[in-house]
Amino acid sequence: MNSNQAQRILVAGSINMDLVCRVPRLAAVGETLRGEQFQTVPGGKGANQAVAAARLGADVSLLGAVGTDAFGTTQIDGLAQAGVDTQGVFRVPDVASGVAMIFVLPKGENSITFIQGANAGLTDAWMQSIWNKDAEYQWMLLQTELPLSVNRKLIRSAVSHGVPVLLDAGGQPNLLTPEDLEGVSVFSPNESELDAIVGHSCTDEDSAIRAAQGLLQYGVEAVALKRGAQGALWVDRDRVIKEPAFTVDPVDTTACGDAWTSGLAVALMHEMTIPYALKFANAAGALAALAEGAQPAMPYLEDVLDMMECKELL
Ligand code: RIB
Repeated sequence: MNSNQAQRILVAGSINMDLVCRVPRLAAVGETLRGEQFQTVPGGKGANQAVAAARLGADVSLLGAVGTDAFGTTQIDGLAQAGVDTQGVFRVPDVASGVAMIFVLPKGENSITFIQGANAGLTDAWMQSIWNKDAEYQWMLLQTELPLSVNRKLIRSAVSHGVPVLLDAGGQPNLLTPEDLEGVSVFSPNESELDAIVGHSCTDEDSAIRAAQGLLQYGVEAVALKRGAQGALWVDRDRVIKEPAFTVDPVDTTACGDAWTSGLAVALMHEMTIPYALKFANAAGALAALAEGAQPAMPYLEDVLDMMECKELL
C-alpha cells in the first residue's frame, strides 16, 4: 500500500446497549426461568466493528445514531475511549438508543433480539456530512441493523466516492435481496445469512460455494463466508479459497462475527493476500469468543498476531 493513501475505515452501522443474561437454556414460550447473571454491555454491530477495527490498528470513523438518553452517552464515551472518531455519531432527540436483549447459553452460544430505536433515525443530511470531512476512507464497512433504505443510500454514496464496500449480512439478513449487492465489493454472510439471501438451505461446503458463486452475477466482487468452527471461504470469479478456523473453547460467541468482519476489513486495507486476510479474520473472530460481551471482547492486534504466530503484519 502506498504510504500516502488513507488508512481510515468508515463504519456505518448500529449502536446498541446489550442487555445480557447468562442462562442455563432458553425459556420456552409461557415459561419463567431463573437466569444466572445480568450485565449491560456496549454493543451494536456497527459499534462493535468500529471498536474492533480500531483495536486492530486502523483509523476508524463511525456513522451512526444514538438517543439523548444515558445509554447513548455511555456508548459515545466508550467509542471515543477506544479511539473511534465519533463525530459522525448523531443524537436523535426523544428516541431511545438501540438495545439488544442477549441470552448467552453455557457453551457460549447466544440468542439476540434487537430494537432499532435511534439507529433508525439517521437522516440524509447526516449521512451526507460524513463525506464533507477531510478524511479519505479506504473501505466502508456496513451491516444490516440499519434500515435497508439507509444501507442502499450509503452503498450508492460510497460507490460515487470510489470507496469499496464490505457488507456484513448480520442483523436483518432476511431483508436483503441479491439485487442489494450491486455496488458492494465484498459480501460477508455466515451460513444462515447466506441461506437467507439465496432463499434455500446450503447443506454443505459445495452447495455454499455454488450459492456464493451465484451471487457474483449481481455485481458483488467476492463473497467471504464465515463458517464458524469450519473456517472461512472466499469466493470470487477466479478462485475459491478455504482457510481453517482456530480451535478455541468459547466463553461467549457474541460479536465474533463482528470481530471477524473487522479483521477482514483491516486485512484488505493492508492489501494482505486473501489466504492471509482470512487467517487474520479467523484469529480475530476466535479471540472474540474467549471473553464475555461484545465491545469488551473485541481483540487487539498483538493478540491476533500472537494467535497467528506472526511478529508483525505482513
Ligand atoms: O453482533 C453482536 C451484536 O448484535 C450485539 O452487540 C447486539 O447489539 C446485536 O446488534
